[in-house]
Amino acid sequence: MKYRHLGRTPWKVSEISFGAWAIGGAWGSVDDIESLAALRQAIDSGVNFIDTADVYGMGRSERLIAQLKRERKEDIVVATKAGRRLSPHTADGYNEKNLTGFLEDSLRNLSTDCLDLVQLHCPPTDVYYRPEVFGFLDRMMEAGKIRHYGVSVERVEEALKAIEYPNVQTVQIIFNCFRQRPADLFFAQAQKKEVGILARVPLSSGMLTGKLRRDSQFAADDHRNFNRHGQAFDVGETFSGVDYETSLAAVEEIRTLVPAGVSMAQFALRWILMFDAVTCAIPGGKRPSQVAENCAASDLPPLPDAAMSAIRALYEARIRPAVHQRW
Ligand SMILES: NC(=O)c1ccc[n+]([C@@H]2O[C@H](COP(=O)([O-])OP(=O)(O)OC[C@H]3O[C@@H](n4cnc5c(N)ncnc54)[C@H](OP(=O)(O)O)[C@@H]3O)[C@@H](O)[C@H]2O)c1
Repeated sequence: MKYRHLGRTPWKVSEISFGAWAIGGAWGSVDDIESLAALRQAIDSGVNFIDTADVYGMGRSERLIAQLKRERKEDIVVATKAGRRLSPHTADGYNEKNLTGFLEDSLRNLSTDCLDLVQLHCPPTDVYYRPEVFGFLDRMMEAGKIRHYGVSVERVEEALKAIEYPNVQTVQIIFNCFRQRPADLFFAQAQKKEVGILARVPLSSGMLTGKLRRDSQFAADDHRNFNRHGQAFDVGETFSGVDYETSLAAVEEIRTLVPAGVSMAQFALRWILMFDAVTCAIPGGKRPSQVAENCAASDLPPLPDAAMSAIRALYEARIRPAVHQRW
């Protein structure tokens, strides 16, 4: 496992880290014993950064991470998020009273007196134009409740606006073979300001593992079933917002580029790591075997130029029309 600096924080984090949404819920049934085994595998594979949120299983994901931290001596940086428990999810809801309550709950769930990294959880665009929200986070840092903060965004323009605030250390954004726009506009700006980038949905919700088929079935409580058309939250979070048939056809083209001895998941993750601006990819993993496979992507050699060009051409031809101007 290789490590990269996270923004201007003192931390160097594993370039393949762990996304802890699936172990909380919304991906079909999960079993805490297996989830903990997946978390332990991550640490055994060199992962030292875990991304979670208060809303993942309403504290379940955070509590599993607290349990992991009690068991292990290694330094583990935990990034959580706040905001998505608001209902309705409005910019006005991002006020001191609500955010204080969310942070107190995360502190309790994570069994800590100071949160490593707090991210605003894909707030409405207007929140980025409310400096008082960022001022509140500054005060939480001064009060010793949080060490650092960042944002998780839906759109490139939100990311560009967020990094105008000097204490935003990280931006989490969807970046994968099917969502390439962040590399065009945003990465250079983030590098200039030394802002860390967390590449989320790196496997396009599992599509870029190459295992899904036209007749794959998803449980009723799996967002790949219930949010296929954005019924519950932003459609971009499910298969990157690319329709299922288009994705399957693109995956067949990618399959021809994957070298022998490498899985498509590893290839897709290594593609992300080719971008220096990215601090880490945070693939979700429910089982130890998935986590071990994903972490091994860090040890692969760089992808050849021909493969990088082929993925770009594939994006331009098949995917760009569906996503490029939407996020
Ligand atoms: N708004 C936000 O801030 C936001 C939104 C989305 C995600 N995130 C963060 O980003 C993380 C990653 O995104 P994601 O979990 O949505 O999507 P993802 O990482 O693209 O896909 C994860 C899913 O793919 C499957 N998978 C993973 N590794 C595999 C492997 N090696 N072989 C086969 N299948 C594999 C697993 O599901 P199955 O086994 O069920 O197929 C897993 O749950 C999340 O966990 C979360 O921390 C944040």
